[in-house]
Amino acid sequence: MRRCVSLMDGPVPGYVPIVRGGGKMHVRMLCLGRHWNPKTYQYGAARDDFDGLAAPPLPSSFERLARDIARSVGMVIDPDLCILNYYPADGRMGLHQDKDESPSSIAAGVPVVSVSLGDTARFLFGGLKRLDPISPINLQSGDAFVFGGPARLRYHGVSRIVPGSAPPELGLEGRFNLTLRQY
Ligand code: SIN
Ligand code: MN
Repeated sequence: MRRCVSLMDGPVPGYVPIVRGGGKMHVRMLCLGRHWNPKTYQYGAARDDFDGLAAPPLPSSFERLARDIARSVGMVIDPDLCILNYYPADGRMGLHQDKDESPSSIAAGVPVVSVSLGDTARFLFGGLKRLDPISPINLQSGDAFVFGGPARLRYHGVSRIVPGSAPPELGLEGRFNLTLRQY
């Protein structure tokens, strides 16, 4: 958690992305290893949509965490990037698929490993089509969620977070979510 705070407020800080249609996202984002460009929906080395700075490297501890979590559910990932998002009290994320990684990674069903810290999120887990039924799941601090194999392209989002629900010992307002990915 401390690492997330120091990265988010570090020399290459998290920022509120503006997506293709011109709308602001409702999170602060910092990409590590590779940058996800919210204007082009493509990955690149630098933050061309914002300040031109290079994405900081992916910490090896994050990489190990993703490998260990994937292994615990019988999956394999060789992570090379992390999207670190911070959700303030009014943070949320619309329903979407994670489909901007390489075609081979997606076709192989290499998982996206998600780790949540801080406030609980009301996470929405849908199907392979946007209009498929959605199951709400509470993601609490310390929870991991793995989208792999046939679930790799399932729609998902965050309708809201529950302010003040973080474990008090964290001393954190809001929520961090890390998604570790193999481009
Ligand atoms: C994401 O889909 O990129 C984030 C999901 C989450 O915050 O749990
Ligand atoms: Mn996603």
